[in-house]
Amino acid sequence: MSTDISRQDGHDGQNALERSDAAEDARYPVVDPGHEEHLPRLTDVDEKAFDRATRQVATMFALVPVLAIGFVVVYFAVPRTAYVDFGPLHANAKNLGLGLTLGMALLLIGLGAVQWGRQLMDDHEAVDYRHGASSSEEDREYVLKELDAGIAESKITRRKVLGRSLIGALGVLGLPLIAVFADLGPAPTKKVRAATIETTIWKEGIRLVHDITYEPIKATELQIGQLVNAEPENMKDLEGTELLTEKAKAAIIIVRMDPNTIKIPASRQDWQVGGILCYSKICTHVGCPISLWEQQTHHLLCPCHQSTFDLGDSGLVVFGPAARALPQLPITTDAEGYLVARSGFNVPTGPSFFERDSSHDFKRGDN
Ligand code: FES
Repeated sequence: MSTDISRQDGHDGQNALERSDAAEDARYPVVDPGHEEHLPRLTDVDEKAFDRATRQVATMFALVPVLAIGFVVVYFAVPRTAYVDFGPLHANAKNLGLGLTLGMALLLIGLGAVQWGRQLMDDHEAVDYRHGASSSEEDREYVLKELDAGIAESKITRRKVLGRSLIGALGVLGLPLIAVFADLGPAPTKKVRAATIETTIWKEGIRLVHDITYEPIKATELQIGQLVNAEPENMKDLEGTELLTEKAKAAIIIVRMDPNTIKIPASRQDWQVGGILCYSKICTHVGCPISLWEQQTHHLLCPCHQSTFDLGDSGLVVFGPAARALPQLPITTDAEGYLVARSGFNVPTGPSFFERDSSHDFKRGDN
């Protein structure tokens, strides 16, 4: 009887083993091939090849400072208006030079690092098993040892020229960054703000002109319900960056509404001509140009985030994220009947900035 029982136990044990093998197979359906046989590279067995690869990497890193200095030279020496023609390519010389020098410098850093990793660092496979998040004392010691071993294997201690050339390359590569800080413009002091962001080229007597044709606009040309995109006449004398900068601040819209259907505060009675009013075209939220106009409601809608301004009520915000009314430009007509500015805007146009003084903005309840 006992023999039968022991035979039975042995049979069950065999079944259990088979079950556990099957479970293991299900967990790892693909056989682990293990590490590939390590084949030494030429640089592992031939000291000359190792030296050659070291020289290649060091040369690539050494060229980086030359290109970084080239970037700075191009930045200051090549005029913004110079162009180069090369086959079908017609490119701005400065942009091309800056792109080539900085691009090549970054490329050489990348190529040098790849070559260093492929040819000079040890290439045996290492397995790092993961455990709990906090490391034990032994693990920390192990990691420090591995770090030391990694530094030794990188050959940075054996070939100091590699480390030095990389540090030199990265250090001098900071020069272009310092150079382009010049393009951030002057510090925004009160005086600088007053001469730039807080003012436009609108002045007393400047004619309002169509934004495409620069044709001056007569008050009698405008119909009730009409909206016209316009600019100051002196905009046509500007070009390049100055033109774009002033356009971004001075662009306007002119609307004509029935004076009996709109609210004109006492302080702004002489800012309009028979229901013709002029507002900044630049949204006070984050500066999108606006001209989506609803004739019936006198609402002007910004397409960017749907701020809505009531042009029949001093440009006050009736909906959306804008926090301030659209600045209004005081206008009148000249001797020939053309619309002209009575003055510049009394507040800065466009979106807010930290130092902006909001005390002159038109608010609900003002008159
Ligand atoms: S820019 Fe006009 S609503 Fe945001």
